[in-house]
Amino acid sequence: MSALTESPAWAALAEHQRTLAGGHLREWFAAEPDRAARHSLEGAGVFADFSKHRVDDRALALLHALAVQQDVAGWRDRMFAGDAVNTAEERSALHTALRRPASAPLVVDGTDVMPGVAEVLARMRQFCAAVRDGGRRGHTGQRFTDVVNLGIGGSDLGPAMVTEALQPFTSDALRVHYVSNVDAADLAPRLAGLDPATTLFIICSKTFTTIETITNADTARQWLVAGLGDPRATGAHFVAVSTNLEGTRQFGIDPGNVFGFWDWVGGRFSLWSAVGMAVMLAIGPEAFDELLAGARAMDEHFLQAPAERNLPIRMGLLGVWYGNFFGARTHAVLPYDQRLHRLPAHLQQLEMESNGKSVDRQGRRIDHATCPVIWGSPGTNGQHAFYQLLHQGTQLIPADFIVARQPHHAHPLHHRLLVANCLAQSEALAFGKTTDEARAELAARGISGVLLDLLAANQTFAGNQPTTTLVVERLDPHAVGALVALYEHKVLVQSALWNINPFDQWGVELGKKLALRIGTCLVPGAAQALGLDGSTRALIERLRT
Ligand code: F6P
Repeated sequence: MSALTESPAWAALAEHQRTLAGGHLREWFAAEPDRAARHSLEGAGVFADFSKHRVDDRALALLHALAVQQDVAGWRDRMFAGDAVNTAEERSALHTALRRPASAPLVVDGTDVMPGVAEVLARMRQFCAAVRDGGRRGHTGQRFTDVVNLGIGGSDLGPAMVTEALQPFTSDALRVHYVSNVDAADLAPRLAGLDPATTLFIICSKTFTTIETITNADTARQWLVAGLGDPRATGAHFVAVSTNLEGTRQFGIDPGNVFGFWDWVGGRFSLWSAVGMAVMLAIGPEAFDELLAGARAMDEHFLQAPAERNLPIRMGLLGVWYGNFFGARTHAVLPYDQRLHRLPAHLQQLEMESNGKSVDRQGRRIDHATCPVIWGSPGTNGQHAFYQLLHQGTQLIPADFIVARQPHHAHPLHHRLLVANCLAQSEALAFGKTTDEARAELAARGISGVLLDLLAANQTFAGNQPTTTLVVERLDPHAVGALVALYEHKVLVQSALWNINPFDQWGVELGKKLALRIGTCLVPGAAQALGLDGSTRALIERLRT
């Protein structure tokens, strides 16, 4: 047993879970007419209905006691202050500085980081405005019509998700594309539809060593030079976003075309930095400012709202409640907004790369569950695919529904149906349908006997599946900024509750190293590397080209 699982707060939660496990949301709603109001919180323009959760006041009190015991507020404050909360790598995690007012100094290791942040943001604004208004053009003097962001992981998922989410705010005059996979099936068809004379590439890589991104950038450069017939064309068509200035220089990018950031910005938290350049090109500097303002509003809510009314704290605590005390292993993210279709993928990296750990901050093996599998896809599509399992499967799967009150299109009927489905699904998941109700419905249709018994069993819905419904007024830049920051802070809360460092990702390194070794063996005629296992050796033989 670890200090955490032996702690009084943990033990009290485990005991209380046993008393609540048999309870049902039906009973709690029946007993508490004001349950919806009492369990709804709001912050930074995000309304959250937490009433459909399997908690009573005592469960919440005990969860908050765990938060106090694990010093959630302390970790939050230290993160915002720039302390080295990335303990294994001994550095700060200051994505919040990227959306902080430039006038408020933030001194880290004796240096105010804010002038640097403001300087890069100002250069981004200038560059994006020039590309958008045609002041900055390609090698042949033509305006840019297309931007291709070459990046992967945090240098792709966040910006790509936000660009999709804010599609109504983008301009038709400048199309923004994202290419991430080393599989040329991603890059090649994209390039096939583009004109080199009017295409701008952003090589987006914090480290500038990521093999996928550098390989795609090399291939894109060859395509550009071949298309324009002049190697000097690269200068006008490639910019880089990176912390590795030497790497960008070696690639041949002019320092004036490099937008830097800092090692205190984690990849999966980086969309607010120059990594968001493609977003700014797509939506313009003013809308990007709004995105930052939305995130800042959530930062302020996280810092200032009392724990009991604090959205990220509540979301983090509920995740621990189900993962550690009810045995939930996955968490679904179900946006009822087609434009948020990339959100689950972004959150997969954000949550799973951060908190998918099995050692604590002191390097000891953990004896409790950490990050669940995050997954999901937009409603209503998911309803016709995997919701069957949510409704009648054997697992407890907490889920987040996300919906905007106002649509960004002129089809009110579609939006009404979308919202109706969102609400219907969380209602069905919470309250289900009892066997008696199913029997009564079947009997009313004239069904009886063995068939009634069989159908009633199949048409019973256990319910009691916990869900949060997050509502924003409109999916505009401010709302998207606030939503993403909400999940970022949920990650911090859970890391503190589990005593793990959410800001490193050693787990991705081993596969990268092995791929380099295997890559050399795949060359025709190459010798097999020593020390490979039998399975990998045989697969290399089969796949060698
Ligand atoms: O392999 C994982 C990872 O390091 C992520 O953490 C990161 O977001 C991604 O690769 C891309 O890294 P980079 O921006 O350095 O190319």
